[in-house]
Amino acid sequence: MEVITKAAAATEIKADCVAVGVYADGELTPAARAIDVAAKGALRAALKSGDAGGKKGATTLLRHLAGVAAPRVLVVGLGNRAELDERAFVEAARNAIKGAGAAVRQLALAALEWTGSAKAKQPGAQALARRVVTTAREVVFRTDELKSRKDDAPTAPGTVILLTTGKDAGVDLGLRQGVALANGIDLAKRLGNLPGNVCTPTYLGELATRMGKELKLAVEVFDRKGIEKLGMGSFVSVTQGSAQPPRLIVMQYRGGAKGAAPVALVGKGITFDTGGISLKPGAAMDEMKFDMCGAASVFGTLRAVAEMKLPVNVVGIVAACENMPSGSASKPGDIFTSMSGQTIEVLNTDAEGRLILCDALTYAERFKPAAVVDIATLTGACVVALGEVNSGLFSPDDELADELLAASRSALDAAWRLPVEDAYQDQLKSNFADMANIGAPGKAGAVVAACFLARFAKAYRWAHLDIAGTAWKGGAAKGATGRPVPLLTHFLMGRAQ
Ligand code: BES
Ligand code: MN
Ligand code: ZN
Repeated sequence: MEVITKAAAATEIKADCVAVGVYADGELTPAARAIDVAAKGALRAALKSGDAGGKKGATTLLRHLAGVAAPRVLVVGLGNRAELDERAFVEAARNAIKGAGAAVRQLALAALEWTGSAKAKQPGAQALARRVVTTAREVVFRTDELKSRKDDAPTAPGTVILLTTGKDAGVDLGLRQGVALANGIDLAKRLGNLPGNVCTPTYLGELATRMGKELKLAVEVFDRKGIEKLGMGSFVSVTQGSAQPPRLIVMQYRGGAKGAAPVALVGKGITFDTGGISLKPGAAMDEMKFDMCGAASVFGTLRAVAEMKLPVNVVGIVAACENMPSGSASKPGDIFTSMSGQTIEVLNTDAEGRLILCDALTYAERFKPAAVVDIATLTGACVVALGEVNSGLFSPDDELADELLAASRSALDAAWRLPVEDAYQDQLKSNFADMANIGAPGKAGAVVAACFLARFAKAYRWAHLDIAGTAWKGGAAKGATGRPVPLLTHFLMGRAQ
């Protein structure tokens, strides 16, 4: 799917279909009005008769309207004008692309009007253009990579034409940003969807090497020996039950000033989480292939940022391994020494994410980062707290938290702040080591996990995103969402300014 712009009127554009918005009360957007005038009232007549409607989500195809160059006019319901925010705008674009029908190869969108404001050119045009691209690419995303017979090709149009009133550099930039962001989101989804037997730590390491060559990233991949040599006893404890060798992957994108402190993104890359000796129940265990979605978001964000050529320095650090039960696996009660020197009593081998992240967080210190954000499918408790809507955001740093929340809003990639407070640290007390790896069952598990990580993130500004509820969908629509690549990319776009 390609998105291009054309400075053309809705009545004159030569495309298979032109989509125009109408509001719930029958009010027409400017392009809809132009089409109605050219077609001598045919659009209003269709609305009046009830053949077409402005209800949110409604799409109606009208054919061969007199005075309109395109053979089809798709009437897209925008709902109440007063409620038309950017999220509703994205929905309308999605409905238009989905509703276009199998015969439509090029779909023209009078999309930049869909803001509730009648002005065609407005400050949000760049963001809107970006959003049309990511939405279009979402519609055509496929999950049949490993099917021997491919699913039917999507009926979505091959080209979406954004109608503009004139040349607008912001819109062009928005389109380019949209492609880069969509490429990053698609990569994160694809990696998330790959099964554990394909997307192994070795696979991720090789991907990093390939991506490094393509995008000019400096890449370093540590194997088990290298990880041991770094003193990452906590990380090693998680991998020791698995036949798949672990990888610590470090990718550096240097788009910013030489010597400017980088932002570090640290991703949890458990390529399959069985729980280890603290074995998980069998139901839906397949979904634990998604336990590397934090790592996938690091790969995806680096791709987006590098393709945008953002003037920032970013270090992506991915700790990748499997969590398996076996004769060599760690056991409840085992005590390990982390890279930081702090000792950890592993009371539950299923709380493994924090055990690999803590060493990756210590490793991040060597980059003297301006900020560190770790991303992890860390706790079921976060799903209980926030469901599939918001990612959990944790940070002791109000300014960094606000910056990430602002990025979350402008990316339409929701996050909600939860506390990291010393008052929860008591739960991690151990009689035998510096700390235990779990707290009291049923008591703020997502917060306690963040508090565990906080003990390893004292050398820099730090935030933690728990994406256990947002990184993938279960059920019939099972699949990775690509979140929080939009949030992280917008965060770095903000830093690039
Ligand atoms: N990967 C899981 C977290 C998870 C569970 C994400 C379900 C999404 C859905 C993590 O490694 C884990 O197992 N966490 C445990 C921690 C507990 C033992 C303190 C959990 O949440 O049950
Ligand atoms: Mn686990
Ligand atoms: Zn896990």
